[in-house]
Amino acid sequence: MGWLDVLWNPVWAISTALLALVVRMQRRGRWDPHACTVRLKGKTAIVTGANTGIGKSIALDFARRGARVILACRSEARGTATLKEIREKTGNRDIHLRLVDLSSLDSVREFTKRILEEEKALHILVNNAGISGLPRQITKDGFDVSFATNHLGPFLLTNLLLDLMKRSAPARIVNLSSVNHVKGEVDFSHFHGENLTYHRDNVYNHTKLHNIICTNELARRLEGTGVTANSVHPGVVMTEVMRHYPFMFRFLFNCIGIFFFKSPDEGAFSPTFCAVSEEMEGITGKYCDSDCSLVLPAPLARDAALAVKDFEICERLTSKL
Ligand SMILES: NC(=O)c1ccc[n+]([C@@H]2O[C@H](COP(=O)([O-])OP(=O)(O)OC[C@H]3O[C@@H](n4cnc5c(N)ncnc54)[C@H](OP(=O)(O)O)[C@@H]3O)[C@@H](O)[C@H]2O)c1
Repeated sequence: MGWLDVLWNPVWAISTALLALVVRMQRRGRWDPHACTVRLKGKTAIVTGANTGIGKSIALDFARRGARVILACRSEARGTATLKEIREKTGNRDIHLRLVDLSSLDSVREFTKRILEEEKALHILVNNAGISGLPRQITKDGFDVSFATNHLGPFLLTNLLLDLMKRSAPARIVNLSSVNHVKGEVDFSHFHGENLTYHRDNVYNHTKLHNIICTNELARRLEGTGVTANSVHPGVVMTEVMRHYPFMFRFLFNCIGIFFFKSPDEGAFSPTFCAVSEEMEGITGKYCDSDCSLVLPAPLARDAALAVKDFEICERLTSKL
């Protein structure tokens, strides 16, 4: 039997359709943002990478709840288009665009300087921006560009905004990681682009492991301040995340994704759950799965001694000596 025969086989077609239906029903998770009546009037939120994908859906949700939302984007054109769209869809005028390139520590410092000058409070910070599949490239700060964008830039951005968040407590930090962190490894020379294999999501997986490790250590350091920090896996989501992968890879991702993967709105459920839900009030240092349940991350992500070391190294790498 050829592969076309398999495709037309009714048993195969019906079971695939049923499987897709079950996956579709399950992928929404146990928490429904539409049923959550939490309002964010008077609250300020920053969402990085808010011009597309999951970040845009998170920002839309916050805007609908009445928050003052700052879209932290690297492209003025893409950011402005999203700003207009969110204002139009929600009627919330208190949406603002601030530019930041997370792969550059100078840009992160400029961004946070402006935020500290302009904002009286910050209640929610969602470190959403991320990239995958980039080839080797060393930034002007001397870091691998994926590590700079996915981990060191957000790490510095968060630390520079911590005092403002503590003054605004209760406040929540939500870091977008990925289930792929289980395939990640910790080797501190990776930060500088050493000992890395640039193949598919290899480097990305390491960065996503560091996200959880440092979020856990941050949560420990923030105990008693009223600021919580959690990491989250949004699920497999049909976004632009594969944009740096070969065409065939993207094509297959999109074909399979139509049936089995989440939409960006569905991908925003678990990050939004961490950022706004009553259930997550006071919960800190946890890893939230795509169905909004708290689960244990990989053993390396739970190593407290490693977390202290990782956090200190990242502090040193991002400090201005
Ligand atoms: N999609 C998934 O299946 C999946 C699964 C697990 C985890 N995640 C995580 O979810 C988060 C959002 O991903 P997504 O799927 O929504 O991806 P996406 O559609 O590619 O969006 C990524 C966002 O990050 C921004 N960004 C990239 N590099 C940046 C930089 N140097 N400075 C500032 N912003 C930058 C992008 O801006 P531009 O548009 O200007 O490039 C874009 O707004 C990521 O952290 C990702 O690791 C996604």
